[in-house]
Amino acid sequence: MIPTPHIESRNKDEIAKTVLMPGDPLRAKFIADTFLADVKQFNGVRNVLGYTGTYNGRKISVMASGMGMPSIGIYSYELYKFYHVENIIRIGSCGGYTPDAKLYDVILAKDAWSESSYAKVQGGYESDVIEGTPELNQRLMRFADELGIPMQIARIHSSDVFYRENFEEYKKIYDKYGCVAVEMEAFALFHNAKVLGKNAACLLTVSDNLATHEATTSEERQNAFTNMMKIALEMAE
Ligand code: ADE
Repeated sequence: MIPTPHIESRNKDEIAKTVLMPGDPLRAKFIADTFLADVKQFNGVRNVLGYTGTYNGRKISVMASGMGMPSIGIYSYELYKFYHVENIIRIGSCGGYTPDAKLYDVILAKDAWSESSYAKVQGGYESDVIEGTPELNQRLMRFADELGIPMQIARIHSSDVFYRENFEEYKKIYDKYGCVAVEMEAFALFHNAKVLGKNAACLLTVSDNLATHEATTSEERQNAFTNMMKIALEMAE
C-alpha cells in the first residue's frame, strides 16, 4: 500500500533498510547535506523531509519524525510496515533529570518508561516500559567505542507533555522509575518495532537539564549533535 497517507515515495527501494530519525525536518536535511553522498529526496509531504544516500559507500536513509509520540507513531509505522524498513534509529535531544546528564552528553536508551497510552491503544500493550532492540544497542555501543565517543546507556522517560504545571514532577520520575532524561518519542517507536517484528534504537544528546537549568541554543545544537550522528551513521549498510 504505497504511497502511504504521509510518505509519497512510490518505490520501496528508494528507502534504505535503516532509517535515522531526527525530530526536526531541517536536521534531516542537514544530515543528508553534510554527511551523505548521492542524495535523493523521497519525502516532502507536510515538509517531513526524507532522504536516501550513501555514507562511506553504504546506503542509509534519514527522515524526520516530527515531535511527540503520535507523530513518530505514524511515520515509523508506515516505514516499517509499507516500505519494509528494518531498523529505525531515533537521533534526538533530551532534557537531563540529574546533574550527571551533562549538556551534549550522548545517551543510548536501553528502554523507555512512559505514562503515555500509545502502546495500550495501538496494540493492547499494558506495561509502561518498552526496551529498544538489544542487537541494535550492542552495535551502537561498539560503534561509539570504536569512535572513542563516551555514551551512557540508561532508561529514559518518553513524555507527552513538554510544559508541565508541576515542574518538580521530574524528580519523582527519576526517583521512582530511574529515568535519567526526558524526550517525547522513543516509547512509541519501540512499541511499533515490537508489534511489527522490527528493530529500533534511540540515541539522544542532552540539550537541557531540568536539575541544573542549563540549556543549549538552537544554533549550538546543530553542531553539538555531530557525535551522536557519527555513531548512528555507522549503521549504514
Ligand atoms: N527534548 C529535549 N529537551 C526536552 C525536555 N526538557 N522535555 C522533553 N523533551 C525534550
